[in-house]
Amino acid sequence: MSANLVLVLNGPNLNLLGSREPEIYGHDTLDTIAVMLEDQATALGLEIDLRQSNHEGHLVDWLHEAGSRRCRAVILNAGALTHTSIALHDAIKAIPVPVIEVHLSNPQAREPFRHHSTISAVARGSICGFGAQSYALALDAAARLRQ
Ligand code: DQA
Repeated sequence: MSANLVLVLNGPNLNLLGSREPEIYGHDTLDTIAVMLEDQATALGLEIDLRQSNHEGHLVDWLHEAGSRRCRAVILNAGALTHTSIALHDAIKAIPVPVIEVHLSNPQAREPFRHHSTISAVARGSICGFGAQSYALALDAAARLRQ
């Protein structure tokens, strides 16, 4: 049981945050987001483990790990896989852990191919459009979830 642990999983291209299209994604790097979330988690009595991969299978494996460890929640920014991945949809459905979908940008306000999410229907909820603060809002939501 890892009831106080929140996995923060990040998909393709999010390792480039800070330099990647900053007018859309902002200037924060994934490292600065991790530091912000660690401080916030401590204040909430939680722990976070932030990971990033450019490979869909890693994200699937980490979702399974969150399930087998009975984590409190997963915060998932699947990047572009949000719009294509049935494997992530199925993995979220397969685990007994709430998944909170996050995006820095607001995909609904962008190109039509970003309007569909394979994740939203199986996520506990979605938070998007607040830049790095989307992650902070998701961690607050994770802290307030009824177990
Ligand atoms: C994103 C939005 C996706 O459409 C995009 O492919 C990303 C980042 C976001 O955080 O705004 O890589 O998930």
